[in-house]
Amino acid sequence: MSGNWRSLNRANWDERVPLHLGSALYDRAHLRARQGRLDAIAEAGLGDVAGLRIAHLQCHMGDDTLCLAQRGAAEVVGLDFSAPAIAAASCFAAELGLVQARFVQSDIHDAPAALGTGYDLVFTSWGAICWLPDIRAWARVIAQLLRPGGALFFAEAHPVALVFDDAAPADAQGRPGWDVPYFGGGPLEIHEFRDYADSEAVLSNSHTVQWLHSLSDILGALRDAGLRLEWLKEHPGCPWQMFRSLVRGPDGLWTWPDRAWLPLGISLRATRE
Ligand SMILES: C[S@@+](CC[C@H](N)C(=O)[O-])C[C@H]1O[C@@H](n2cnc3c(N)ncnc32)[C@H](O)[C@@H]1O
Repeated sequence: MSGNWRSLNRANWDERVPLHLGSALYDRAHLRARQGRLDAIAEAGLGDVAGLRIAHLQCHMGDDTLCLAQRGAAEVVGLDFSAPAIAAASCFAAELGLVQARFVQSDIHDAPAALGTGYDLVFTSWGAICWLPDIRAWARVIAQLLRPGGALFFAEAHPVALVFDDAAPADAQGRPGWDVPYFGGGPLEIHEFRDYADSEAVLSNSHTVQWLHSLSDILGALRDAGLRLEWLKEHPGCPWQMFRSLVRGPDGLWTWPDRAWLPLGISLRATRE
C-alpha cells in the first residue's frame, strides 16, 4: 500500500473543493433561502435534530452541517481533513449567520481530541468510509464522540455496489462491469482523473488509496465499539449518479431503470450503549 495514503487522499480532496464550489451538485441556493435540505434517504431516516449537539464527520464543504444548523441543532461541528473544505465551510457559515455551526480541520482518527465528546448525534454520509483503512478504528471514534444513549446516523454507498465500475466492460443492458472483489477490499490504488461533480475537470491529484468495507465488517465494527443497531435499510437509490446507466427519480435519487438490480445505498441508526 502507498504509505502516504493520507497525503495522497488529502491532496485529491483539496483539489476538488474549488471545483465543487461552482458545481450544480453542490448548489447552495436552498441553504441561502434558509431551507437547507438533505438527500431523500437522510431526510427519511434522520429524525428531529432540534436541540441536539451534533458531530458531522467528513463534512466536506459543510452543506449538510449547515442544514442541520438550520434545522435547530443546538451545536453542530463539522470535521474534515481538507483545509480548503473547512475554509469554504466556515466562510459559508459566516455568510449565513449560523453561529451554532463551526468547522474543524482534523483527521477523523483524531476527532475525539479535536471535537471533544458527549455528542447526542454523530452524522456521517455518502462517500466517507472508503477513505478509511480501518473500519474498526472508525467505529471506535464514533463511540468515543457519543454520550451514552447518543446515536449514529450513517448513510453510505452499499458495499455490494462498490464492486462495480463503469470503467469495467458493461453487460448487455449497459450496466457496469465487475471491478474489485467484495471481500478483502483494499487498499485499492485508484487513478481517477474525473470528478463526480464537474465533468469538465481533469484532476492533477488523481492517485488515491481507498478501501471497500463489507456490510458485516461495518456492522461488526459498530457492535464491537459498543453501538447497538436500531435499524438498517438497503436502498435502490443514492444521491449521485454512481453509474452511467442510473436514472434520476422524482425524489432526486439515482437508481437503476428497473430499480431492482442491486442495492445502491445503506442507511442505519445505532445507539451507544
Ligand atoms: C465524499 S466527501 C463526503 C461528503 C459528505 N457526504 C458531505 O457531507 O458532503 C468525503 C470527505 O471525506 C474527507 N476525508 C477523507 N479522508 C479523511 C480523513 N482521514 N479524515 C478526515 N476527513 C477525511 C474528504 O476531505 C472529503 O471532504
